[in-house]
Amino acid sequence: MTQLKRILVPTDFSDHSERAAAYAVELARRYQAEEVHCVHVSDIPADLLATSAYYMTGPSEQFVEQVRAEGRKSLESFVQKHLAGVPVRTAFLEGRPFVEIVRYVRENNIDLVVISTHGRSGIKHALFGSVAEKVVRKAPCPVLVVKRGERDFVLP
Ligand SMILES: Nc1ncnc2c1ncn2[C@@H]1O[C@H](COP(=O)(O)OP(=O)(O)OP(=O)(O)O)[C@@H](O)[C@H]1O
Ligand SMILES: [Mg+2]
Repeated sequence: MTQLKRILVPTDFSDHSERAAAYAVELARRYQAEEVHCVHVSDIPADLLATSAYYMTGPSEQFVEQVRAEGRKSLESFVQKHLAGVPVRTAFLEGRPFVEIVRYVRENNIDLVVISTHGRSGIKHALFGSVAEKVVRKAPCPVLVVKRGERDFVLP
């Protein structure tokens, strides 16, 4: 089996991705990983549309900068809270989330991705959110998928 030197946790800052981060920390400790990489991909047009002020100002450069600054800040605080005690490298990327995550895996020789089945959208996808599903399908390395409510499961 390949060594777990570089573990990647992509985050959309949801509670679900916090659970994935907890698994990544534990695995990194047990396997003495060199680094846990944590990336957030900002889909700028979608992030802008999610803000109400967009409808008043339009897509100004100032607004795009604000979205970037908020994303970077959220990534820093996610790492401080949820990836404490292990060596971490962060990356703030822009584009389509699954495309950038898979590209990052290739370019950084990631050995394992830890991702949650669900994220921020709140849509009740049957099994996987769209980003998680595409990362599982397209990543060149193993992917550990953390299910929501995993520990609450009672019956076999
Ligand atoms: N923009 C992103 N950047 C980094 N990681 C992400 C991003 N979006 C999702 N992820 C990762 O994928 C996991 C699953 O999220 P996903 O987006 O697939 O589900 P969802 O938000 O419930 O559904 P959907 O977005 O398809 O409506 C998240 O917990 C997070 O770890
Ligand atoms: Mg999502």
